Amino acid sequence: MAIHHAPPVGAAPDWTIPQDWRSYTAAEHAVWDRLFARQTRMLPARVIPAFIDGLDILRMTRPGIPDFDELNPRLMKATGWQVVAVPGLVPDEVFFAHLAQRRFVAGRFIRRADQSEYLEEPDVFHDVFGHVPLLAHPAFADYMQAYGEGGLRAAKLGMIEALARLYWYTVEFGLVRDGGDLKLYGAGIVSSHGESLFALDDSSPHRIAFDLKRVMRSRYRIDDYQQSYFVIDSFEDLLRQTRDADFAPLYEQLRDCPPIAVGDLIPTDRVIHRGTQAYARFRAAGQPPLPERCP
Ligand code: PHE
Ligand code: CO
Repeated sequence: MAIHHAPPVGAAPDWTIPQDWRSYTAAEHAVWDRLFARQTRMLPARVIPAFIDGLDILRMTRPGIPDFDELNPRLMKATGWQVVAVPGLVPDEVFFAHLAQRRFVAGRFIRRADQSEYLEEPDVFHDVFGHVPLLAHPAFADYMQAYGEGGLRAAKLGMIEALARLYWYTVEFGLVRDGGDLKLYGAGIVSSHGESLFALDDSSPHRIAFDLKRVMRSRYRIDDYQQSYFVIDSFEDLLRQTRDADFAPLYEQLRDCPPIAVGDLIPTDRVIHRGTQAYARFRAAGQPPLPERCP
């Protein structure tokens, strides 16, 4: 049964809050600038070009935490999307309803200067640097809206968990083909320095061609780098396979399928790179994560 939370005090009924851009301190803007500089040095050769185009179209290359009131007219003009601030994680159905109306919910707070890699709750750097540039891409923008609509339907069918895996392995941790190469596009990857290197270059993780049903059966980890990444052909193809498909029969099939464990391959996988899983084994043996070993 769905639990209906009330929004926190000070938030609107749709859970939004004012970004209150003027109240960010110089130190907070400096945290953004440092993370931004580190990622934009490393990403151009690794991320799908549409991401860099989005930074440009939205003028996100200007210093400091973006002011949503400045960002939104540009984003609206590009694809009809808006960014709205929320106090933290919001209930699933609130999240889906915003997406369905082309509103992306973003945390307003920014991590502390000493939290450059690991965060339990998404902050404005992850949410805005990671997610917003691709919202300026028409097919990706349409996918996000369709996902929100699909989420509302999945909620009624009790299938949020399956649909959440699709979000995880596309919007957050997706890879995409770009000519003969693989490129990053998932926001959870591109907002993380360590995972931007790991997801593309490391021999540990599996890289598997995207398959909708397979992805919706695949468990994921939230505490460390992913053990498998799924590779789409293009945003247009992802959109075709999702928006234009009726998920109801798929959900019926999924009810009888056991979930696939993190790091497992199945016989039908189209494996692009079979990972060694060395990093996951290393971490399971109690070793600290790479960024702590190699600051
Ligand atoms: N077409 C899906 C359904 O029938 C919804 C969906 C669209 C899901 C886009 C994910 C992404 O429910
Ligand atoms: Co995110």
